Amino acid sequence: MLKTPEPADAAFREHVLAGLAAPIPAIPARWLYDHRGSELFVAITRLPAYYLARTETALLEGIRPEIAARVPAGGAVVEFGAGSATKTPMLLSAIRPAAYVPVDISGDYLEESAGEVDACFERIAVYPVVADFALPFDLPGEIAALPKLGFFPGSTIGNFVPRTATDLLRHFRELLGTGALLLIGMDRVKPVERLIAAYQDSQGTTAAFNLNLLDRINRELDGTVPLDAFRHEARWNDILSRIEMHLVATRDVEFTVEGQRFQFAQGSSIHTENSHKYGRRGARLLLLAGGWTPIGEWTDPAGDFVVVLAQAQPNRFAP
Ligand code: AVJ
Repeated sequence: MLKTPEPADAAFREHVLAGLAAPIPAIPARWLYDHRGSELFVAITRLPAYYLARTETALLEGIRPEIAARVPAGGAVVEFGAGSATKTPMLLSAIRPAAYVPVDISGDYLEESAGEVDACFERIAVYPVVADFALPFDLPGEIAALPKLGFFPGSTIGNFVPRTATDLLRHFRELLGTGALLLIGMDRVKPVERLIAAYQDSQGTTAAFNLNLLDRINRELDGTVPLDAFRHEARWNDILSRIEMHLVATRDVEFTVEGQRFQFAQGSSIHTENSHKYGRRGARLLLLAGGWTPIGEWTDPAGDFVVVLAQAQPNRFAP
């Protein structure tokens, strides 16, 4: 029997075909997160070596009273990316907003997280928005008059190179308006061994997450990529202060995607994700460059992760 291929996203097709043919082959990280990829990412957050999610959750839990003291109640929380089942309720119960607006590209995840908040918080109006938060979109009219808090946890900002991260932060500022607040999680620079361990775990979960991209190409773009010809590798790029995920060819390999031929020599790679890590001042500077003035900052005792509260302050004439 013929298998019906899953409908291919036109942008996925374009990014894969252009990315594989580029001088430095690379595919944007967002394509790692199909249904299977998102499941694998949840498995990653439970790995002992993946300190990020656990550390940020504990941090948010601990600073709830401080957040509540600085964020006006009765406002609107706009979350960029579908809500996390643990972090979002923690934040909402602390600040008691009138409205919650999750923004995500995947309608499925959006419905799930919106449904959860709807069920748990009867006093909070939920207005889900299906959109790519990096592209222009409109907020629901119902929250126009409310004070706004943007919520961007998980070190997702780390996926963006600083130029794009700055664009994104400026876009959030335009969207939320002058006076708005932003609560953002960022991962800190730390010893390379710990970073590599977090992104190249001994259980092979991150490897499966990365290799799933090739499987997705085969499934959705009629690809013939032999998965056993690639291995997962996490590299620390010191000058750019980031972890890079690559799929490295273990032998000379040839395959087709939608009929187009590609060749990879043994040792060459497809770059699939960046995770930028920031120092204390680098984190602040990135926010400032994006139009957000840090007004509060919290780290775990080990200094592994930082949560920053920033404000879109009015532009001053001088100095
Ligand atoms: C979801 C982008 C925050 O960069 O740490 C985890 C994704 N990739 N392991 C990260 C990821 C490999 C994660 N972010």
